[in-house]
Amino acid sequence: MDVRTVSISATVADGPVAFGKVARVTTLRLRPEGPADEAPVARVLAAAFARPDVATPPEVGLVEELRHSPAWIPELAMVAEYGGEVVAYALLTRVGVRTDRGTLPALALGPVAVARHRQRLGHGTAAVQAALDAATELGERLVVVLGDPAYYRRFGFGPAVRLGLTSPWSGLGEPWQALVLPPSASGEPPPPAGEVVFPAPWSRV
Ligand SMILES: CC(C)(COP(=O)(O)OP(=O)(O)OC[C@H]1O[C@@H](n2cnc3c(N)ncnc32)[C@H](O)[C@@H]1OP(=O)(O)O)[C@@H](O)C(=O)NCCC(=O)NCCS
Repeated sequence: MDVRTVSISATVADGPVAFGKVARVTTLRLRPEGPADEAPVARVLAAAFARPDVATPPEVGLVEELRHSPAWIPELAMVAEYGGEVVAYALLTRVGVRTDRGTLPALALGPVAVARHRQRLGHGTAAVQAALDAATELGERLVVVLGDPAYYRRFGFGPAVRLGLTSPWSGLGEPWQALVLPPSASGEPPPPAGEVVFPAPWSRV
């Protein structure tokens, strides 16, 4: 299993406000999920995406279905562990791009979730970047995401329409984003313009 660690320096309130804010360094362990992580990952997802109108948010079922589907790439289901606890999750799974050269492989990012008590400490950023780095190492070239551009632009995501990529969500505009990963030794070019086809589990969300 490919395990990386990252040290994150975050300025956080530390103790009574009277004592001010201090820089605290956190060491996260980033690694692909294993069987023992399934329940903790479901708990992180359920809390991060909790909504008053549903008992279990659809992102929990989405990950469970993807995990048992051909879209699953074990190396790209990234957990961030802090003090032995799963605190963040970033998932990349297979999608296809229908192009004039046939359907070519790409990746979709999501869900991305951080345990509520550990949000805004850099864990989400670290988990996403670790997943993207692992994808680059595997020779992947294109990642799409539906999310807030204010968050995803830090990784290099930009409007997917600029790359000619469409999807059921492209009408939403800015949240439909894509990232071309650096070329690997395999030398495969990124898929050209086309329609991004998401596997069936995505119809849940
Ligand atoms: C969104 C989320 C993954 C971010 O992870 P995180 O560890 O809390 O965030 P990080 O510490 O890595 O990054 C903090 C930055 O993200 C921004 N950010 C946090 N949550 C955000 C959100 N929902 N939308 C946009 N930006 C957000 C912060 O403003 C901060 O920006 P700055 O660096 O410019 O100050 C996490 O807060 C979460 O799980 N939220 C609930 C589930 C969710 O919305 N997932 C994303 C679906 S697209």
